[in-house]
Amino acid sequence: MTALIKAAREARERAVAPFSGFKVGAALQTTGGTIVTGCNVENASYGLTMCAERVAMFKALSEGHRDFAAVAVVSDTASPTPPCGACRQVLWEFGGDLEVVLANLTCETGRFRLSQLLPLPFDARLLGGK
Ligand code: THU
Repeated sequence: MTALIKAAREARERAVAPFSGFKVGAALQTTGGTIVTGCNVENASYGLTMCAERVAMFKALSEGHRDFAAVAVVSDTASPTPPCGACRQVLWEFGGDLEVVLANLTCETGRFRLSQLLPLPFDARLLGGK
């Protein structure tokens, strides 16, 4: 897990956050052990900003990965920075009940299953019938 946090810290350094100044790094681990990273990318049209977690997930999917075990999220805050609601939904849809490890620049700040952060999720199972 240390390697995953380290990868997220390094990804955070590449954050494109000129508007908020709030840099976030994420690192997703596949069940096969591959690590795919992401950082937040902001836009002058603020709503187009993409969070680090979704960048990591979309990168991983586009590279062909489909099975995920854990995600680490790093920000420079003393208290944990958990994934936003949109990221929880996307992580659930493609990653299922992932381990979510939160950390800052020096230590781990929290550890959850995604089902703890997103209880009673909406997902594709509900689209099949009534
Ligand atoms: N952000 C993330 O990248 N991930 C999170 O979990 C929380 C928020 C980004 C979005 C925006 O660029 C900045 O942090 C401030 O909201």
